[in-house]
Amino acid sequence: MNRKVTVVGGAGNVGATVARAIAGKELADVVIIDIAETKAAGIALDIYETCPIIGSDSRVIGGADWGAAAGSDIVVITSGRPRGPDMSRDDLVRVNFEIMKSIAPKLVEHCPNAIIIPVANPLDAMAQALYRLTGFPRERIIGMAGVLDSARMSTFIAKELNVSVENVSSFVLGGHGDTMVPLPRYSTVAGIPITDLLSKEKIDAIVKRTAGGGLELVKLLGTSAWYAPGQAATEMVEAILKDKKKILPCSVFLQGEYGITDVFVGVPVKLGAHGLDEIIQIQLTAEEDAALKKSAASVKELVDVIGM
Ligand code: 2OP
Repeated sequence: MNRKVTVVGGAGNVGATVARAIAGKELADVVIIDIAETKAAGIALDIYETCPIIGSDSRVIGGADWGAAAGSDIVVITSGRPRGPDMSRDDLVRVNFEIMKSIAPKLVEHCPNAIIIPVANPLDAMAQALYRLTGFPRERIIGMAGVLDSARMSTFIAKELNVSVENVSSFVLGGHGDTMVPLPRYSTVAGIPITDLLSKEKIDAIVKRTAGGGLELVKLLGTSAWYAPGQAATEMVEAILKDKKKILPCSVFLQGEYGITDVFVGVPVKLGAHGLDEIIQIQLTAEEDAALKKSAASVKELVDVIGM
């Protein structure tokens, strides 16, 4: 294939899920890089051997050699410590920042033109760390969080209303943490806002479950989720590789949009071949605006901790 996606930390659960989903959809060749060199090679070979069964001509290789990542169109960064049972995403900031510090020079050296999709937590702060450390333009650093949070919200809406998930479109703004901002007004079923379909109590319950969606999985699994996060990153990869101009909620570096400056926060963006094509600005109520600003402030506190 003529497209290449590298998944850093690809021997972990999220990374392996991303690699498998990309090969499964025959979006690109996949390079798995991980300090766990042998496991990376094993996971890559195992995924590669699924390709004849599913009819995909993606080639999948794995190891610890960054040289294989050269010429990647996209690099998905899944390296990082996952959450343990009694941890918030924010508890990971220092340890995962150290990992981002080791990855950034490799990106600059081997993949200077790639679009970077950070996935490690705390997501917005790690995206900001990679943005500052690589010096890449903001169009090429696009954090994965909103697609996952929206998918969780859509799952709960579809279940509550007993409708196809394909009818549901959910809208979540803000940082990927407890302060995220699910927006019921802009969340729809076949074009109808859920505010016309569900009681306030039901909507409040869905919003609460969405914001706590990561923790719900940590409690069940004893570690962070991987299937939905991996699939969410793959949707972003597909939108970029196919230049779909798809509007998805992603964490990007705001420079005045939504009245927020110099911090990564989740907002609706248009994704295309060059990465971030456009930030879509929508009208927020005073309450929604305050919630988004509060979420941005909590990301800012975290990036201040790591001096980014
Ligand atoms: C989650 O929300 C891993 O942060 C990720 O599940």
